[in-house]
Amino acid sequence: MKKKSSNANLKTANRAKSDEFYTQLSDIEKELKNYKDHLKNKVIFCNCDDPEESNFWNYFALNFEFLGLKKLISTHYKDANLLTKESPYKLEIVKDTNKDGKINKLDTIKTPLKQDGDFRSPECVEILKEADIVVTNPPFSLFREYLAQLFEYKKKFIIIGNLNAITYKETFKLIKENKIWLGQSIHSGDREFRVPESYPLNSAGNRIDENGNKFIRVKGVRWFTNLDYKERHDDLILYKEYHGHENEYPKYKNYDAINVDVTKDIPVDYKGAIGVPITFLDKYSPDQFELVALGIIGSIDFASNKKMEILDKSGAPTGKYTFNAKGTLYRLYNPLTDKTPAFKDTETGELYSSIYARVIIRNRKI
Ligand SMILES: C[S@@+](CC[C@H](N)C(=O)[O-])C[C@H]1O[C@@H](n2cnc3c(N)ncnc32)[C@H](O)[C@@H]1O
Repeated sequence: MKKKSSNANLKTANRAKSDEFYTQLSDIEKELKNYKDHLKNKVIFCNCDDPEESNFWNYFALNFEFLGLKKLISTHYKDANLLTKESPYKLEIVKDTNKDGKINKLDTIKTPLKQDGDFRSPECVEILKEADIVVTNPPFSLFREYLAQLFEYKKKFIIIGNLNAITYKETFKLIKENKIWLGQSIHSGDREFRVPESYPLNSAGNRIDENGNKFIRVKGVRWFTNLDYKERHDDLILYKEYHGHENEYPKYKNYDAINVDVTKDIPVDYKGAIGVPITFLDKYSPDQFELVALGIIGSIDFASNKKMEILDKSGAPTGKYTFNAKGTLYRLYNPLTDKTPAFKDTETGELYSSIYARVIIRNRKI
């Protein structure tokens, strides 16, 4: 039987709203070490975290003194359908409440919540107002709403999510305006998350450890933050030239930009707009490049509006038509580099290849 990919697993999780993916302590440590100066003397809020399960809670509780935190708060959510053991509650560590000169268990205060611990509940919003920095792995299915709330209350944050979130119009706008960016530590590959016992393990990279804990590998995981760190200002080193190699960089038919398929091939000397894969953002320095637009449906003003016949995977006509290739970027079909054309212009008969998602950028330094 064919095994499911980790992406397929994530989709299943989204569909079923199975949001119980627990972040590993090692992943949290690798990212959080970049923000030590930002965290000092701050109130940290983990608002999607059952302290009994969450390594975000563990990380901050264990490092409370080392990081010089002022307060740590975590709220435990109880969904009516969820089989969690406990009722919703808030757990806090406050700087040495019992004045014994140490941060220890006695300084941990547990209070039942009146509401269900939903990050949107008035009770949790009151805690959010008090917090300086929010750090967690919010439910994948509520990412948009979660991020919107952080901005509504003008919070600093470090959250983990999926790269796909970049293609949400709302998220891209924030990235473009330099109000949010990707974190420092994850730029490729997949990451393991612990899942509850009840989750089926049906993809290739899943495992159960010697203690019976289940783990699922998820692709496209990234940190999102609005706390600055040094490396995001490092220029991407480019070595290819546009001048003299114009054929390598075909222009789109419906947007005035050249196409680049691999980030490292961005020409060092090109002044105009360039379409690059979304993973460019892993290497993006706002000092070096300007983000112009997101080249996907609904988020860009395309220059033309052609009636095109949709071709099937073998390049054969389907008898179905689309205007402007459903809003994707497209360029002339090149038989040397493209497998099959995707569309045929109904007027001229020209064949086109469509390009799914691109970020349109411009080099600030030329
Ligand atoms: C992806 S898991 C991450 C858990 C934990 N932050 C971690 O990384 O280990 C998301 C968590 O958010 C909880 N959750 C789901 N909906 C929520 C809501 N509306 N408000 C607060 N928490 C919620 C889920 O029960 C789940 O434990």
